[in-house]
Amino acid sequence: MDITYYGHSSFGITINEKKIVFDPFISPNPLAKNIDINTLQADYILISHGHGDHIADAVALAKRTNALVVSSFEIGEWLAKQGVKNIRGMNTGGKAKFDFGSIKCVKAEHSSSMPDGTYGGNPMGFVVESNQGNFYYAGDTALTYDMKLIGDYRKIDFAFLPIGDNYTMGVDNAIIAADFIKCKDIIGMHYDTFEVIKINHEEAVNKFSVAGKKLTLIPINETINK
Ligand code: NI
Ligand code: MN
Repeated sequence: MDITYYGHSSFGITINEKKIVFDPFISPNPLAKNIDINTLQADYILISHGHGDHIADAVALAKRTNALVVSSFEIGEWLAKQGVKNIRGMNTGGKAKFDFGSIKCVKAEHSSSMPDGTYGGNPMGFVVESNQGNFYYAGDTALTYDMKLIGDYRKIDFAFLPIGDNYTMGVDNAIIAADFIKCKDIIGMHYDTFEVIKINHEEAVNKFSVAGKKLTLIPINETINK
């Protein structure tokens, strides 16, 4: 599968020729100014929680592409009120099959309100399984013991973990999270976008390396293949 980084916690992942966009926060992000939200393609849009830095471009992207938006039930209700038509509301613990593979919603230890203050339901992470591999997208979360469940019952080939600290776990806790999910191949997210989550890249990569793991920090607008 191809993975393109759109900055912050946003990625475009192509699995079995379907394009899945995670947590679109692109047009307000100066670091992602070279990405044109108006030409971005999406078959699915996954939203981990309601905060503006995860949902900013969701309504426009969903309306233009008619992608299926997968999110908490409450975020789905909110999106419907903004005129989004193609919505699949889910909740923590739920798994559903789609044409590229399956999505299971898992616990994230965080908060979730919409930009207008509406309750956004549970914040979530996603476990995506497909015939091209399995991955865990953690969303915004603290390190939580529940992550052990993710690695105990399936093989996680790689994982997207927040590493910026302050609002989520930082590098040291993300290394423990990688142990909990039994995955050594980590892609960092939720760092550098704001002053309080700026990190030292070299130090972060080295810490993972010392712990016997690989941290990949994909440059914004670049694509890697897994
Ligand atoms: Ni958040
Ligand atoms: Mn966030």
